Amino acid sequence: MGDSGRMTLDVAAVRAAYPALRDGYAYLDGAAGTQVPTPVIDAIASAYRTGIGNSGGPFPASHRSDAITEGARLAVADLVGGDPAGVVLGPNTTTLVYRFAQALAATWRPGDEIVVSQLDHDANVRPWVQAAARAQVTVRWAEVDPSTGELPAEQYDTLLGERTRLVAVTAASNIIGTRPDVAAITAKAHAVGALTFVDGVHATPHGPVDRVALGADFYATSAYKWSGPHIGAVIADPALLETLRPDKLLPSSNDVPQRFETGTAPFADLAGVTAAVDHLAALAGPATGARRERLLASMAAVESYERELFGVLLRGLEEIPQITLYGKAAQRTATAYFRVAGHAPREVAEHLAGRGVNVWHGHSYAWELTGALGLRDSGGAVRAGLVHYNNRADVDRLLAGVAELAGPKG
Ligand SMILES: Cc1ncc(COP(=O)(O)O)c(C=O)c1O
Repeated sequence: MGDSGRMTLDVAAVRAAYPALRDGYAYLDGAAGTQVPTPVIDAIASAYRTGIGNSGGPFPASHRSDAITEGARLAVADLVGGDPAGVVLGPNTTTLVYRFAQALAATWRPGDEIVVSQLDHDANVRPWVQAAARAQVTVRWAEVDPSTGELPAEQYDTLLGERTRLVAVTAASNIIGTRPDVAAITAKAHAVGALTFVDGVHATPHGPVDRVALGADFYATSAYKWSGPHIGAVIADPALLETLRPDKLLPSSNDVPQRFETGTAPFADLAGVTAAVDHLAALAGPATGARRERLLASMAAVESYERELFGVLLRGLEEIPQITLYGKAAQRTATAYFRVAGHAPREVAEHLAGRGVNVWHGHSYAWELTGALGLRDSGGAVRAGLVHYNNRADVDRLLAGVAELAGPKG
């Protein structure tokens, strides 16, 4: 507990839960996928060890699989603030966005409009653009201010109109961390009767999420970004899901949310999803109480911990004259995107790998944004992102490695 009575993170204890961190690398690649703590590994192994069957059978192994699936829906609903009956599970967010693009586009008419943004990962852009082309729907683009990395909400006043059917926007950029004012954007969308699809993949691991407060009719998240297995989810109001008719096999369930789920679920991994949410709830939250409340407290502690450590990282990079940092939004996650003068991003990542630091490089599928920043055709930039298990030693090692490559100051 901190001085103010707020819960704080015991990072040494948190790190001890992640066996992979013992290899000694500084895992600053969390934005591309986090490591997995022991309880998640155990939950997955235990599901297989105990015995699981396919869904809907009259025997215990099948009942266990169905219970695991329902448990994962409850857990994801607690994490983002939703109704478990509105949690659609799938292999990853990209696949689910394609699924929803198909289902929603079936409700569009030629001449309708949708709005996508330059800030988004391509997973929340291309499926909509491709579906719009097929449905003869016009695509409008919300633009990023390249000097700040902000996605100004005011521009939606001119982008939206009575034909707008959908606004797709991210809750945080996966490269420069910008957290746009999603609540303001979705309020404008709702004022013209449009639906909103919010990409929460990058935002979810970095702080508390309230899907309803964000105004997200659909909210997407991927468990492998928050210490879970490779599973994606889209959370919506079940009543809204009832109105959609995705392509599906005839014999598969027409219930909601199962209607949106194709094929046999990865039951053991779904046990890992629940374990990951329980792990997050226990990071720094109170020991007792409803899981949703514990998650909100825990993720608030994660957010403030990351903010403080990110300050150290940013100040350190800013002191190196050869560094160019991209994005300086007022609200952002702990995600740095930078170049080192005279060195290609891949070369920087290779140099850091040799110093025991994992960072990502390139466009990281932020296709439109790296285009707008003028970086896409020249190798993008280097991304170093913090999550709750990173510590000061990780940051110091990154800064030392970058300084070594950059050479003498000035
Ligand atoms: C912001 C954002 N959206 C969407 C995706 C795609 O998620 P998935 O890999 O689950 O398809 C990613 C993956 O990096 C991401 O960072």
